[in-house]
Amino acid sequence: MTIPAVPGKIFSLKDKRPGPIAQFLITFLVRKLIPFVFGVLRRFAPVFRFPFTNTVIVTSFDHVQEVFQRQNDFPVPYQRQVDLLDWKPTFLLAMKDTPDYWQTLEQVKKIWSASDLEFVREIARDVSEAELKKAGGRIDAIQDLMVPVTEAVIERYYGVPIPAEARQPFFDGCMHVAGFLFGSQSLAPKAVESAQQAISTVWKVIDDAIAAAHKNPLPENTIIGRCHALKITNDEHLRSYLMGMIMGYLPTNTLANGHAFDVILGDATAYRIGCAAAEKEDHELVQRVVREALRISYILPGLWRTTPEAVELGIGSTKTYKIEKDRMVYISGMSAMKDPRRIAKPDTFDPERSRDVYMVYGHGFHYCVGAAIADVMMEEIFTALLRRAPRAEGKMIFNGNFPWTLNITYRS
Ligand code: HEM
Repeated sequence: MTIPAVPGKIFSLKDKRPGPIAQFLITFLVRKLIPFVFGVLRRFAPVFRFPFTNTVIVTSFDHVQEVFQRQNDFPVPYQRQVDLLDWKPTFLLAMKDTPDYWQTLEQVKKIWSASDLEFVREIARDVSEAELKKAGGRIDAIQDLMVPVTEAVIERYYGVPIPAEARQPFFDGCMHVAGFLFGSQSLAPKAVESAQQAISTVWKVIDDAIAAAHKNPLPENTIIGRCHALKITNDEHLRSYLMGMIMGYLPTNTLANGHAFDVILGDATAYRIGCAAAEKEDHELVQRVVREALRISYILPGLWRTTPEAVELGIGSTKTYKIEKDRMVYISGMSAMKDPRRIAKPDTFDPERSRDVYMVYGHGFHYCVGAAIADVMMEEIFTALLRRAPRAEGKMIFNGNFPWTLNITYRS
């Protein structure tokens, strides 16, 4: 069932950009205060019950990985939100370790086939090159490069065109719903209502695309075209998968591209290695540079889990921690990836680190199903950018925690 659009003013993140003082405080909180406090916790209290709340914060590398790996003791809490959004059938990240989860994962992997990566790469490369050529030496790297690449993949690969008049509410709606699902976990009536309003715009774009594809079938190298042609699943499941693969993709990609670029421009070693790799079109090295940049400035402070039963954390180590039943557990990959117990010189940029230190795409059971897609997109965007020796004109402007604008000049 589609939630009807709520009449009145269309929700827009753009209108809701916090004022300068609020923005300063958000940036300070997310980029300075939380990393500092989590760093202190990691050192002295890696599993910490936040006073007067139901929340336990987990910050050390080993404990974060342990929570990720014990999915039955620490399931995700997102089904509550999914129900409130009337999103049926539900999607991977809200699911527990059940046969239904594995069946859904199998279908998603059949539709989003690994053999599509070259097509995604082609789209990301074409759009990056075209936008940079068109702009001729000065561009807003977020709005005029990273967003159009993201959009082009949804349109050309997923087969979901975003009409011009729906573009802003579609993007804003995705960001807003992702915040509702994975952010503060507030189920206050106002938060629910605005999330319902935001998702209705996204459903409409998806449903229109599926209906249009029935009238004019899409080629089999698109998600909708393939699903229809090979009859992989029905439209009810397809629209739910599309919603999940858009929600998992659009906000994270926007955040990741912006955060990584910010680090690369601000770190002399990252910049030098990144530009040299891009010059040689060494995609593997570009990818390592981007991944290391994301380790240094991760996109979010943490992810949520719950405890349906009381559990003990730290199994096999000298100290264990008891966590009561029905706690909300906030696991910080951001903090874990800076844990000096496991990562040598964690504040130094070093793209030669073992892959095992990264939890950029999560770890274990819910490991990101779109990681390879995100990697090829970032390889192409950053290769196109860095081979033009970009220079920032000023600091990146954020909208809340989302990178919003970064004007750069570059060799055209
Ligand atoms: C750089 C970009 C991305 C980052 C940093 C990222 C990060 C993550 C993380 C950390 C998780 C695990 C969440 C958890 O354990 O609670 C995850 C899961 C997921 N991601 Fe991504 N992701 C990115 C791109 C994508 C893309 C491009 C797609 C889709 C095409 C996608 C779809 C998903 C889905 C569906 C899940 C849930 C998988 C499951 O439950 O089995 N992500 N992602």
